[in-house]
Amino acid sequence: MADTAARYDFVIAANRLPVDRVVGEDGQVEWHRSPGGLVTAMESVMSGRDGVWVGWAGEPGEAPEPFDEAGMRLHPVPLSEDEIQGYYEGFSNDTLWPIYHDVIVPAQFHRKWWHQYREVNERFAKTLAEVAEEGATVWVHDYQLQLVPAFLRQLRPDLRIGWFDHIPFPPVELFGQLPWRQGILEGLLGADFLGFQRPGDAENFLRACRRYLGMTVKGDVIHVGKATGGHDVRAAAVPISVDFSSMDELSRRPEIKKRAKEIRESLGNPSALLLGIDRLDYTKGIRHRLKAYEELLKDGSLDGADTTFIQIATPSRERIDAYIDLREHVEGAVGRINGNYSAIGSPAMEYLHQGYGREELAALFLAADVMVVTPLRDGMNLVAKEYISCRHDNGGALLLSEFTGAAEELREAFMVNPHDVIGLKRTIMDAINSSPQERSRRMKALRRRVRRNDVQHWASAFLDALEAAPHKPSRHGPQ
Ligand code: ADP
Ligand code: G6P
Repeated sequence: MADTAARYDFVIAANRLPVDRVVGEDGQVEWHRSPGGLVTAMESVMSGRDGVWVGWAGEPGEAPEPFDEAGMRLHPVPLSEDEIQGYYEGFSNDTLWPIYHDVIVPAQFHRKWWHQYREVNERFAKTLAEVAEEGATVWVHDYQLQLVPAFLRQLRPDLRIGWFDHIPFPPVELFGQLPWRQGILEGLLGADFLGFQRPGDAENFLRACRRYLGMTVKGDVIHVGKATGGHDVRAAAVPISVDFSSMDELSRRPEIKKRAKEIRESLGNPSALLLGIDRLDYTKGIRHRLKAYEELLKDGSLDGADTTFIQIATPSRERIDAYIDLREHVEGAVGRINGNYSAIGSPAMEYLHQGYGREELAALFLAADVMVVTPLRDGMNLVAKEYISCRHDNGGALLLSEFTGAAEELREAFMVNPHDVIGLKRTIMDAINSSPQERSRRMKALRRRVRRNDVQHWASAFLDALEAAPHKPSRHGPQ
């Protein structure tokens, strides 16, 4: 049944719903879990609250009617095939994504994509205006929806509007390349509170407001002139996290421990098991880690018959050129490494281009000696925090790129600069050879931190800050 008249006090908007609509070969509709950290985090947040999630259902064409799934009320927004190409694959993922991630690949600029981005953002705002109760809290997510706050404020000035940036916010030198930089800043400034992963991201945003809009910024508050709303907006860091207790609980189950053991056995019980779990994205530094691993095998530091690297690479944005190129490169490297260094029954690499359930991921985390997280740039990286949450045995070593948001908090990890191949190789070996005592010391400290700053803490901190904005909240305040 449609619920076109239903209104909610708590509304979230993200480009994607937590599930994608997939029509099977037999014509049956199935709902598959959507990829990415945003969905992981917001699923945990929404499961304990009343409210509605507004987003795209992952297919072109008419939107399905609002429906319930996994205990959540979901309200689909339609995207045409042309909009998927222009707004989603184009402006969001081929213009903004590279600019916001240090231009690891060149950004593409097309005026048509910008127009489509504006149109889709306006559509989201209209839908939100329809489903939000008088005075409701609306929490908008991520770079795909940066114009929604201003469109929504125009339609519904009674709402409390927050926006959270799951990815980095670029320095002005990179942000300034965008021909539409002013429009994006003005779009965001429709919100009451803007949350970022790191203090540096919030500072980059504040600097951009000063530089490109000539706005007055006092501390972390921006005064928006009458022409664009005449209100104060606060921008601060509220780092995202994971559902520590549910991952911890999952990883303690006997069947997960058994599965972890099975995974090691099926690979010939290697002395060292390394693991990478990422969307197949050029920001994740998968090429860099494979290069370091291949060199360690080549120079004899590691023996391919006694070491396995499992790389889970979730399919992502598969029609965009930069992603097609990356897949070819990674799959070529995996083939070469296995061809040169595997033994029968003892693969040097296990590569899986598939999605998995939480149970299998927990078993993989528990099985791995070294979790290899080497992004060239990443807003947070939830995988690093999930690994920690699953290591109730205080075992395992986390190797972590200093270019992730997670590195600001997870100081006891084995830190690396993924561009420094010599340093990366050395740190992989340090992590593999670290003593059980050292691993346990590091892991205990990491677990304390993630247990304390879990996803519920993050959501409360964000919502407290939104409620108190433009002032700092008295509790749970973001640092
Ligand atoms: P991003 O949001 O850029 O994809 P994160 O590390 O922050 O990166 O979040 C990725 C999320 O997706 C994590 O919750 C992780 O467990 C999940 N994930 C990654 N790969 C897979 C996979 N192959 N199958 C299922 N979930 C996955
Ligand atoms: C990152 C982004 C999310 C996005 C996810 C998956 O986590 O921050 O907004 O949903 O990647 O990417 P996709 O393009 O498949 O939604």
